[in-house]
Amino acid sequence: MHAGTMVRNLRLASGLVLMAFVTCHLANIILGIHSLAAMESWRPRLMGPWTSGLGEWLLLGAAAVHVALGLYALAARRSLAMSPTDVVQLVLGLLTPPLLLSHVVATYTAGEVSPEFTSTYGMMLAIYWSFSPGYAFQQLLLVVIVWVHAALGLYSWLVLKPVWRRISGFVLPVLFAIPILALVGFAESGKEVLEKLATDPSWKALLTDNIGRIVTFTSQLEVFQARVLLVYGALLLAAIGVLAARMLRDRMTPVTIAYDGGLAAPGRRGLSILELSLQNDIPHAHVCSARGRCGTCRVHVDAGAQSLSPLNDIERDTLARVHAGEGVRLACQARVLAQGVAVTRLLPPFADASAARVPQEWLADAAVPDREPAP
Ligand code: HEM
Ligand code: FES
Repeated sequence: MHAGTMVRNLRLASGLVLMAFVTCHLANIILGIHSLAAMESWRPRLMGPWTSGLGEWLLLGAAAVHVALGLYALAARRSLAMSPTDVVQLVLGLLTPPLLLSHVVATYTAGEVSPEFTSTYGMMLAIYWSFSPGYAFQQLLLVVIVWVHAALGLYSWLVLKPVWRRISGFVLPVLFAIPILALVGFAESGKEVLEKLATDPSWKALLTDNIGRIVTFTSQLEVFQARVLLVYGALLLAAIGVLAARMLRDRMTPVTIAYDGGLAAPGRRGLSILELSLQNDIPHAHVCSARGRCGTCRVHVDAGAQSLSPLNDIERDTLARVHAGEGVRLACQARVLAQGVAVTRLLPPFADASAARVPQEWLADAAVPDREPAP
């Protein structure tokens, strides 16, 4: 497998592992709609596999790989020309680590700090709802942020698959239902915990005692959290720095490409054909948002093929899948390196995901229009 395809597949696989974990966690919280006891009795089945040796390594490995490849995806960009959905997905992904950190640290270290403190749902919920409502709000925000990010990623991958027609009626409602029900479960179980705190003095005393002990370690935990945040912030800044440096360097060399319909798009060297289209408001289909998966951005190169970056493995695979003809390139992968490029867009700008699922039903590449006006 080539490097580009491997990076893409690894990011997807690690994202799916993280999503499986988050789904188990949220499913456990949904049981709070029934009772705290139901949450606890299902905990070993839903969360147990992720806290055992192999599951824990899989989860930590997936988190490390996914964050690293997320930052790499940012650093590898050549412009900020993105669809609004992509901006949302990227920003939410980048916000996740800082928001998640205190929750992970609190859950994992509480047991170490205070041996009788097992981070059961009851204990954690009591902390959130009674002792630290600010954290409760942060958890709600975190559920929304992580889920929207992951659901957008899953959707944009699945929607291009032929199987989507059969599973969409099930997948879409589930994607909406899980976070909503989890928030209801969080609220319902929170109410139950507050009642228990009010009516069970011994439980309250145990909890207060444990929290008191944890508080004495808070400054150490805060130092640890601050260090992790500092490393993450430095990596994020480095990724942004690489992107900015590349944008500045390429700015020195302007290029212009010509399109069907007599259109032209000026820009800078190194941008993809699709980025030039988007920056110049030239209508251009791009269903998978430049991930090289859908093939809807493909163009016929009418002139200047030698002024484009060479075919990469992702592009080669997708062109083969859509049975693209001679001289066809993916506009999102082919970067413009010099003047003299002229292209014809092969699919209308309104092409949707069905053009990726059943490419044969859309415009046949063989019938390259003779630089006809674009639709
Ligand atoms: C629990 C947390 C997370 C879950 C469940 C999750 C899940 C996913 C999923 C399912 C995808 C789609 C995979 C793909 O299309 O390649 C994805 C993509 C992505 N994620 Fe995450 N993710 C999480 C955290 C993060 C974090 C912390 C970052 C950033 C540091 C991040 C950055 C990205 C990026 C940049 C993409 C790729 C978009 C693209 O395809 O270009 N994610 N994530
Ligand atoms: S936008 Fe999907 S392959 Fe180019």
